[in-house]
Amino acid sequence: MSKTHRYLEISAHLSQQIQLGHLTPGSKAPSLRDIARQYQVSLGTAMQTYEHLEKLGVLRSEPKRGFFVTRLSTPRLPTKTRQTVAAPQTVKLRSLAQDLLSTADVNTTYSFGTALLHPAWQPVAGLEKTIRAVMKSAEGMLGQYIPSPGYSPLRQAIAMQAFEWGGNIHADEVLITAGATDALQLCLKAVVPPGGVVATESPAYFGLLQILENMGLKALEIPADPMRGMDLGALEMALATHQIAAIVVTPNHNNPFGSSMSDADKVRLLRIASQHLTPVIEDDVYGDLHYGPARPKPLRYFDEADQTLYCSSFSKTTAPGYRVGWCLPGQYQARVQQLQIENSIAVSSLPQVVLARFLANGEFARHLDITRARLASQCTPLIDYMTRVFPAGTRISQPVGGYTFWIELPGLISAMDVYHAARRIGILVTPGDVFSSSDRFRHCLRLSCGQVFGPEMKAALAQLGEITHQLQYAGGS
Ligand SMILES: Cc1ncc(COP(=O)(O)O)c(C=O)c1O
Repeated sequence: MSKTHRYLEISAHLSQQIQLGHLTPGSKAPSLRDIARQYQVSLGTAMQTYEHLEKLGVLRSEPKRGFFVTRLSTPRLPTKTRQTVAAPQTVKLRSLAQDLLSTADVNTTYSFGTALLHPAWQPVAGLEKTIRAVMKSAEGMLGQYIPSPGYSPLRQAIAMQAFEWGGNIHADEVLITAGATDALQLCLKAVVPPGGVVATESPAYFGLLQILENMGLKALEIPADPMRGMDLGALEMALATHQIAAIVVTPNHNNPFGSSMSDADKVRLLRIASQHLTPVIEDDVYGDLHYGPARPKPLRYFDEADQTLYCSSFSKTTAPGYRVGWCLPGQYQARVQQLQIENSIAVSSLPQVVLARFLANGEFARHLDITRARLASQCTPLIDYMTRVFPAGTRISQPVGGYTFWIELPGLISAMDVYHAARRIGILVTPGDVFSSSDRFRHCLRLSCGQVFGPEMKAALAQLGEITHQLQYAGGS
């Protein structure tokens, strides 16, 4: 990480120490000298770190006494006890999802809606510079098809990047797709027969539910724990009682909770799936956005039986508009490639070439470092602020990566009512209703916070809080 961003890295580490209880609320923070010594930085960088944490509300300074840890109260979402599994459902979200996505009529003042990094946090300048360099040197190649499985240097760069999680991937195994959505669709087509049943987490990323709806597949929603992910006991039960063609799961920093499965649970999931010969489609789009020091391992790392189809993309880490993702379909590689050729022939050339260079010249890695530190350092203060502005009894997820937050509203407050009232004043949120075919999450909201936690976000959160208070007093109609 560059020197100028070292303070973000240290801020992230200190925030985490507070979240883990190693630095307790009210206690005196280490002196600037201690910080400088411990992290081997200048006193200026130590000061910059503390000023940043003070701005976020993690520390407060007292004249002549130094810096103190602020009281942060973070009521957790309750850990779920074993829940029953409903029968496979035909997904019917189309009209609601369309309403959510068609925001052309909204004069947006603040968006917590679509899960993406705010353009100010996307590496716009670096990508644009790379585009200019590519345009100078590509010599007509950009107008040609790059045949499936995609641009070889990009496949190599992705294979190299997998070293970060211990992945021993060969470039030949990587198939470039038009984003993770395309990867998920191709993998589902490869392993699920028409009308087949797919086990998903519940709540599930609503784009996945829409894909299932469009493909005419059924979803069997397996309850997910806010901290541990998919309930594996429930999954075992579902596999024993239903004909399930595939399991789709987001083991790392899932959308909406931002939580990750433990390595032991990942191994257990693979064991359960292999006992039933069920392929597992792994969605790892947020895997690189960890707050802790180590990149969590995907299922693919533990997959000795070649039963996973790994999917990811640059949409969540870099920029969604490039529409570049990839999959590692394992034993289904030939089938997925054939489907891709039939579906779309190839992925657009320019973004593949640009991203290949962006990865190869180290800019992607630097950008990830900065993004992770930014997200990690603001997570705890953000939850603390939400706790203060939403009504008492609101429960908020505790992400360990990514930037989506799941909010369970108290009492009878309807998320759809919040959504409509917020939309009227230009604030976009995602109601829990679209994360399931059932109405289980109609009191929940998902907020995407991949942007600076500053005055604008605070004002928008305060307005959302105000709306929920009003609806609570109105009887949650
Ligand atoms: C869990 C998950 N998977 C996949 C996607 C879609 O990714 P892409 O834009 O690469 O198609 C999203 C986008 O929100 C997501 O949250």
